Amino acid sequence: MSKKPQRLISVLIAVLVLSSMLLSACGTAATTAPATEGKLAVGIVLPTKDEPRWVQDETRFKDALTAAGYDVEILFSQGSSAKEKENVEALITKGVKVLIICPQDGDAAAAAVEEARKAGIKVISYDRLITSTDAVDYYVTFDSVAVGAKQGQYLVDHASGTGLPLYLYAGAASDNNAFLFFEGAWSVLQPKIADGTFVIKNSSEAVALQDKATLTRDEMSKIIGQITTNWDFNTAKNLAESNLTVATAADKGEVFILAPNDGTARAIADAFGADKDVTKYYVTGQDAEKASVQYIIDGKQSMTVFKDVRTLVNDAIAMAVSLLKGETVATTGSYDNKKIQVPAKQSEVIAVDAANVKSVLIDSGYYAASDFTGLE
Ligand code: BGC
Repeated sequence: MSKKPQRLISVLIAVLVLSSMLLSACGTAATTAPATEGKLAVGIVLPTKDEPRWVQDETRFKDALTAAGYDVEILFSQGSSAKEKENVEALITKGVKVLIICPQDGDAAAAAVEEARKAGIKVISYDRLITSTDAVDYYVTFDSVAVGAKQGQYLVDHASGTGLPLYLYAGAASDNNAFLFFEGAWSVLQPKIADGTFVIKNSSEAVALQDKATLTRDEMSKIIGQITTNWDFNTAKNLAESNLTVATAADKGEVFILAPNDGTARAIADAFGADKDVTKYYVTGQDAEKASVQYIIDGKQSMTVFKDVRTLVNDAIAMAVSLLKGETVATTGSYDNKKIQVPAKQSEVIAVDAANVKSVLIDSGYYAASDFTGLE
């Protein structure tokens, strides 16, 4: 072969190789660029997969973010503050710009969010307040005092006569919400304890404070120390059973039970339902978990407080987007986290019982009717 055609072939090959390189480079750019531009630089940390409440939040976050075309990483701390810190550190390494976090333990989460703050990340406390640190930028929450007040009001609305046995239960002392729920419930129940409608049966600390309309945090701590479920079904069941063992038949009959949330309400209701001296019980809850909606339909749980997780999720996402865009974040008030006033966006809650369960939770499309039996 002469030199000329040989050179021509080499040139042709070079052109082919170069153009294929260019094409593939364009191809890569075309697939990755819009993806990275569209990604939300947000990480989410939730307390535990073991409670349906937080699985609801996970589902609603995924639905909302997928619909909006964003990618997100959601990590669970499985009830451990150490795991929670690891989760936050993993998200910092991945370069998130906004962290949405629901702490396992409000005080213990301070160290983790302080690390995030140092890395220049904005921190949104989700549902539960992170306490004793200034490294919290915003808080999205339901009106937790109203949750407790609606629980208390339900018991009051169904009470007739005097000397009615009242059993009190609370959430975990490591969760600031447990105090807010109890504060709300106490504000409604206390006047009805003071006037003799209810008689507290399972907390000497609550009895000692029953003439006080408003309690300090320390006073609430004393009561919660005796009636805490730690947000744990087994703890709730064991505590209810031991309360029932100590109580006499006269302390039973028709009873009124303040249970802090749905998971503990079902455990406590099962314990009271199994006691032959309990002829009827009224028990509160919150979260509108599917299992509790079924309990309400079946007459085994009296009420729940519906907190529309879609609203909280949308508020958190809207807040994150505003932060990423450098826009002003809309808030409705603030919460004291023992160190600073944290600007907050708060959402309303709805009391649900057998009378409105269908209209509020099914007809509204929140749950499908096919998820339940015995719906009228
Ligand atoms: C939440 C409740 C939940 C409870 C237990 C609280 O902080 O507000 O919705 O039932 O924790 O996980």
